[in-house]
Amino acid sequence: MTMTAHQPKLDWRRTHTCGQLRKSDVGSSVTLNGWVHARRDHGGIYFVDLRDRYGLTQVVLGAEHKDAVKLGPEFTISVHGKVVARDAANINKERPTGEVEVIVDRLEILSRSKVPPFQIDTDEEVALETRLTYRYLDLRRPNVQKNLVHRSRFINAMRRAFEAQNFVEVETPILTKATPEGARDYLVPSRVHPGEFYALPQSPQIFKQLLMVSGLDRYFQVARCFRDEDLRADRQPEFTQLDMEMSFVEEDDIFKTWEQVLKATFKDAMNVDIQTPFPRMSWIDAMERFGVDKPDVRFGLELSEAGEWAATCEFMVFKEAIAKGGRVKALVVPAKLELSRKDVEDTLTCIAKAAGAGGLAWWKAGKEGGVGPLARFCKGEAAASLMKAIGASEGDMCLFAAGPRNQVWRVLGDIRTHLGKRFALAQQGTWKFTWVTEFPMFEWDADSKRWFSAHHPFTAPRDWDLGGADVGPQDPKLGELFSRAYDLVMNGWELGSGSVRIHKTDVQQRIFDILGIGAEEQQRKFGFLLEALSFGAPPHAGFAIGLDRLTALSLGMDNIRDVVAFPKTTSAADLMCGAPSIVAPEQLTEVHIKTAVPPAKA
Ligand code: AMO
Ligand code: AMP
Repeated sequence: MTMTAHQPKLDWRRTHTCGQLRKSDVGSSVTLNGWVHARRDHGGIYFVDLRDRYGLTQVVLGAEHKDAVKLGPEFTISVHGKVVARDAANINKERPTGEVEVIVDRLEILSRSKVPPFQIDTDEEVALETRLTYRYLDLRRPNVQKNLVHRSRFINAMRRAFEAQNFVEVETPILTKATPEGARDYLVPSRVHPGEFYALPQSPQIFKQLLMVSGLDRYFQVARCFRDEDLRADRQPEFTQLDMEMSFVEEDDIFKTWEQVLKATFKDAMNVDIQTPFPRMSWIDAMERFGVDKPDVRFGLELSEAGEWAATCEFMVFKEAIAKGGRVKALVVPAKLELSRKDVEDTLTCIAKAAGAGGLAWWKAGKEGGVGPLARFCKGEAAASLMKAIGASEGDMCLFAAGPRNQVWRVLGDIRTHLGKRFALAQQGTWKFTWVTEFPMFEWDADSKRWFSAHHPFTAPRDWDLGGADVGPQDPKLGELFSRAYDLVMNGWELGSGSVRIHKTDVQQRIFDILGIGAEEQQRKFGFLLEALSFGAPPHAGFAIGLDRLTALSLGMDNIRDVVAFPKTTSAADLMCGAPSIVAPEQLTEVHIKTAVPPAKA
């Protein structure tokens, strides 16, 4: 045996894939190529399941094939032989090729394989680190591979849907200048311009607006975006958006366009009919009803109002919250879910505290006064009036949050999400889209004591006067302004975001002022945009959907890693190729960089 694989003399190339042969092929001579998925030895006769992207075919190697004994898992082989029908007793109904097998007359080993670090032929759990280190083998597993195939179908269906609506795909630069989307930039040093840097785009936002100024009218792009932020199941440092922009439109036009595109895409790629138009909900409704801006509306369990009742009760926590201008809201958990006192006082109270509350008040509803810390405030009439106020029935577990508005939403929103998962309240296999509209324009950051854009600084306000000329950058009134931003939410995830844009230079400058970006900085960072807006910019609006999130959700998965070919870990590392990595000192010198901190790896 030589160490290298044979150089086959006869034509070894496949005539069929491993997923192709059927009963109608019985009698034909075929060549198959693929990987040894499984090998069973029946006393010198080998049954090999041969695998490729398309499926598995059983091939039979008689005792005359001396090489058969050498075949290990994941060897790459070529077999030539005759298709025969299997006996009725041996038919494998689970496989499309299960009625036939190939009796091999020629075997070529194209390539040997070391013993793989995990089994490819099972779905057994493998440590994530191992999977990511050997991602190319992980991707051989049919269940992982099919995700990429699905992703490809999905993206292409979406492309077709946009092209059908006369959109033009334009590629925008990767080496560019920072576009603020709220995350840190990845920077690329310039060799030619010492001390200067490109930023990788967090999104194509500014370019797509410039394309509207250019008159492109309907733009889309499968756009790679880069954000140096804390990573989670739904966030990768580089990810893909289906990004778009339209001219001479308002919110409605964007919604209709996306409803058509998504309907066509789900039909085309998955043969699934999704319901359109998608329901709309204002941001304030989402917060008041669900406590979050990306509600999972597949189940109820909505928050109810307890403020009026709380204002009249003697419970200090409630009284104080109301006196300070805060709120008291409740979550009524039906008795049939049998939430125990222990659940509430341990798990749910922890969630409430993590969301910033001092605790979580609870009451097991009962006309006679009920049970729990609130019971002593529910004597006589009070019990019935509380039950009426929050819509509780006898025996329901009622949870209360008191405090500032945002905290109350967060506490009950987090608890609702937790209970939804714990009791599997959402019907699986359904896709419920909702447009969430009218977001606040600005969010106050207590640390830096300044306003930030809730979406991004190019988003149009609903009130174009921005509260009037006398409103300065620190004005609390700015918190009451709403924007023309919208999100598309599905099953509790933010799938995409967009807005009607500012198309007037003065309004854009005013927003920059409010955000604390002075005139000089405006010119330096965004001068080209401000100038472009002064050359007849059309009213325009757009939207970008996270393709990784959409494809993961459409497969019922909750980690986008599974639909990314070569994903990074939560510490933004590529375990397979070992990125990021140190580079040679000469390379650093070339780009005029001196590192202050010796890299840990060095
Ligand atoms: P936004 O920042 O909301 O909007 O991003 C749009 C969508 O992109 C997806 N997304 C991500 N997916 C994976 N990993 C990440 N780190 C990540 N960050 C964002 C989400 C999100 O909803 N330019 C604007 C869009 C516009 O206004 O037209 C933008 O980028 O699904
Ligand atoms: P007390 O014994 O009077 O201090 O009442 C404390 C009760 O109020 C406990 O059940 C706490 O979990 C609950 N509690 C504390 N802070 C809050 C809050 N912000 N919202 C709702 N309940 C709270």
